[in-house]
Amino acid sequence: MSYRIVLIPGDGIGPEIVAGAVEVLEAVGAKFGHDFQFDTVLAGGCAIDAYGVPLPEDTLQKCLQSDSVLLGAVGGPKWDTLPGHLRPERALLGIRKALGLFANLRPAKLQKELAAASPLRADIAARGVDMLIVRELTGGMYFGPRGRGEGELGENAYDTEIYSVGEITRIGRVAFDTARKRGGKVCSIDKANVLESSRLWRETMHRLAAEYPDVTYCDMLVDNAAMQLIQNPAQFDVIVTSNLFGDILSDEASQLTGSIGLLASASLGEGTRGMYEPIHGSAPDIAGLGIANPIATILSAAMMLNLSFGLTAEAKAVEDAVAAVLAGGARTKDIAAGGDFIAGAEMTARIIAAL
Ligand code: IPM
Ligand code: MN
Repeated sequence: MSYRIVLIPGDGIGPEIVAGAVEVLEAVGAKFGHDFQFDTVLAGGCAIDAYGVPLPEDTLQKCLQSDSVLLGAVGGPKWDTLPGHLRPERALLGIRKALGLFANLRPAKLQKELAAASPLRADIAARGVDMLIVRELTGGMYFGPRGRGEGELGENAYDTEIYSVGEITRIGRVAFDTARKRGGKVCSIDKANVLESSRLWRETMHRLAAEYPDVTYCDMLVDNAAMQLIQNPAQFDVIVTSNLFGDILSDEASQLTGSIGLLASASLGEGTRGMYEPIHGSAPDIAGLGIANPIATILSAAMMLNLSFGLTAEAKAVEDAVAAVLAGGARTKDIAAGGDFIAGAEMTARIIAAL
């Protein structure tokens, strides 16, 4: 089969880590007889430099015509003072919205060999971490009405959290359907003791939960969830939450696994086309040093193989190769816990060798 993949390397370490994932995809293509066609486009800070806008129309059109998109990272200090609509991050939000990618899947799993890199206490780490955060991605505060005004205490600014029953239901279904294929548990995280939008979220999730009697359901307030993730992460299977809470909690969950450099993500809509990206950012402080960990991007490519192309054996081969290389002791700097480490390109080469 032939697949058209749009590559958005972006800024900072983006180009290095996307290059690693492309090498792995090419190795998968050679091994399993698939033809992956890559088209590289600009978005984020590099697009601002080249065209004056974070998301050029040509980039968006190519994404819309692709079978899937693989993104590195966007942003950096160079563009931090630009007005909101011109910031590199707008590119991500624009692609998610235009492609209708409302469901963001962020798995966080602690591999036992990496327990030393995790900040968890040994007895807590030993009970395991294996969760999937399902983050709503095209609604809530990130997309609600916003603005600035003038009040008694001076200039003010506001953002609005709005969720409809339709939006909550469709993300809820993704969580419940996925839980059936995993540990059979869904925990919905909200702030229903304060926010009206969370009360609607909770009511809607309860209605859905009744349709999935085989899935164990619970609600949790977001402040408690932030604590439970550290204290007892083994209790979680699938977490479903809003755009804002999911952004924050997925960074927290990533740390439990040892490094944010290990965590992949998939953003999906109604069809099979998705956008796949590591959950970490552009890490401008280490860009170009060759030490960035390519694993999160390589595992994102594996998620693409599985979720967008239905190539489950190929995806598993990549995941197994990554696990084998880590189990064999290879470490990039972020997961070396102060010990010896190898370059990002060397990590990619070892994963390909294990494949
Ligand atoms: C992420 C990022 C983005 C987000 C930013 C860069 C807009 O933090 O993918 O988690 O908040 O969604
Ligand atoms: Mn984030």
